[in-house]
Amino acid sequence: TFKIKPNQHTATVSPNMWGVFFEDINMGADGGIYAELIKNRSFEFYKPLMGWTVLGKKEEGDLLVLNREATNSANPRFLRAKVNNKRKGDMGIANEGFRGMGIKSGLRYDFSVMYRQANPGVKMHLELINSKNEVIGRGEISPSGAGDEWKKQSVSFNATATEPKAKLNIWFEGSGVVDLDMISLFPSDTWKGRPGGMRADMIQLLADMKPGFIRFPGGCIVEGHDLSLRYQWKKTIGPVEERELIVNRWNSEFAHRPTPDYFQTFGLGFFEYFQIAEDIGAEPLPILNCGMACQFNTAEVVPLDQLEPYIQDALDLIEFANGDANSKWGKVRAEMGHPKSFNLKMLGVGNENWGPQYVERLQVFQKAIKAKYPNIEIIASSGTDPSGDRFDYLNAELRKMKVEVIDEHFYRRPEWFLENAARYDNYPRTGSKVFAGEYAAQSDKTVSVNNKNNWQTAIAEAAFLTGLERNADVVVMASYAPLFAHVDGWQWTPDMIWVDNLRSYGTPNYHVQKLYSTNKGTNVVPILLDNKTVSGQDGYYASATVDKNTKELIIKVVNNSDKSRNADFEAEGIRFGSKGTVTSVASGDLEAVNSLDKPAEISPKQTPVSVKNKKVEVRLAPYSFNVIRIKM
Ligand code: AHR
Repeated sequence: TFKIKPNQHTATVSPNMWGVFFEDINMGADGGIYAELIKNRSFEFYKPLMGWTVLGKKEEGDLLVLNREATNSANPRFLRAKVNNKRKGDMGIANEGFRGMGIKSGLRYDFSVMYRQANPGVKMHLELINSKNEVIGRGEISPSGAGDEWKKQSVSFNATATEPKAKLNIWFEGSGVVDLDMISLFPSDTWKGRPGGMRADMIQLLADMKPGFIRFPGGCIVEGHDLSLRYQWKKTIGPVEERELIVNRWNSEFAHRPTPDYFQTFGLGFFEYFQIAEDIGAEPLPILNCGMACQFNTAEVVPLDQLEPYIQDALDLIEFANGDANSKWGKVRAEMGHPKSFNLKMLGVGNENWGPQYVERLQVFQKAIKAKYPNIEIIASSGTDPSGDRFDYLNAELRKMKVEVIDEHFYRRPEWFLENAARYDNYPRTGSKVFAGEYAAQSDKTVSVNNKNNWQTAIAEAAFLTGLERNADVVVMASYAPLFAHVDGWQWTPDMIWVDNLRSYGTPNYHVQKLYSTNKGTNVVPILLDNKTVSGQDGYYASATVDKNTKELIIKVVNNSDKSRNADFEAEGIRFGSKGTVTSVASGDLEAVNSLDKPAEISPKQTPVSVKNKKVEVRLAPYSFNVIRIKM
């Protein structure tokens, strides 16, 4: 019998305890959540025509990529088409999309292009082509007006068939010279119907988790493999055509699987991240570069006396998020369509940075941020090791500095998660709190391409999270990482949500996270087996909370054994209501996974529980994670 003490509140659960970690890895942003279908829309990839092919016959010089770096350093290149008495089918360009374009029958697609033309007279025929080379959607656009000014023109058309790997042909007709840039195609069913917005199915999966926070934009991309390629938030806001793209940190040379066409166009930039956070009710948690590049690649750091621009970026970001429309950066936010504050409360400085170099840089940030914004909480990184000298050094230094929250990362085997479920039972109860900012059990080994999101990894995480919840006075935030992966364009596995161009599904690990975040409770209460914390005895792991608002007891229990067991739960000092529910995720096959074709192979099932002789009795399936909710 499990004994629970619902009146003995041992910790308050942070309202934003369970959140999500977003990084543009595995085509998470471009080709993923950012719904743009055209790859290399502004010809800024290393190879200017990457993603494009030339159609039909052209004479030398008919299609040229021009570079106007002196006048537009953010978006220097554009395509010039000289069209001389051409008919449709004679000359054109085709875009392959991000591993093809996901097209839905009957849906409206919005095409737009920036152009200028000295000699008008070119018409463009747009054709969506399926994998059988059939046209499944068509439109026409005749750029109007002449002169040196860049203009934008749009046309919308409906698709006539569904196709996961379409491409877009653009045929030129007539005679004239036209300069083209920002050639763009978006589906109309974006999240909240926002033009140029995000993929709704992917955001919905996040919204369904009711996450307490969203951390962005990473991950290693915050650091960059060198400092010139660090994430700079100011280059990710304002009109999309003015956002300067950079190569993605997870591009081939630096990743475990080759993706030479991986760039960050920043159509999903800091404004959009804040907006997503607001939409899904999550606290925004931006992480900024601390003046150090990724230490796995280089040891490039900014000299301490030259940190000023980095510090200014942090101060300006707070103003961008929270300042009123009279402030410099608050005005920029207001002009982008959000006059109200985004109510930023916390800011991460540094991702997986370590050593005295990190500590001394962080001190400068801390001083400047606290002087201007004393209420902004600083999240500091404790590197990548959950133990060892490097971790001990950082933990001691960061605690001395009294940083509010320390970000710990764990990419380990499932056994580690089981063995460390009690990790926080003996942590210091005062001083800095913990953000378990990145974790995922690895079925093979860390960064192995063979890692699977199987049930063994998910149940190990479920067990580990009982320890985080039990210690909610120490651990105030937690998030699985990475979040998204495209089946045709990933560099890292396992990942919480997998997608192709049209579909998406939550892994077993997703369901575990979601069960925690949607069954949070407000206060931790003791749950004991034979008078002891439940952390591994007989394969049981458990934690319990009460929800003061709904007056419910919420019990989480993992049965990490191959036996089906009847468990009963007794609560001291309260009367159970007569009915409750148990939501279980289980599989006797630890290798079981979800997939695009079988997205719900492992997913939660809810059944009623009833109370007998003042006890809740539940049958716990072999290898199961169970959440029991019962009125008190
Ligand atoms: O989540 C993948 C990577 O793992 C992150 O970018 C980094 O912070 C960690 O090493």
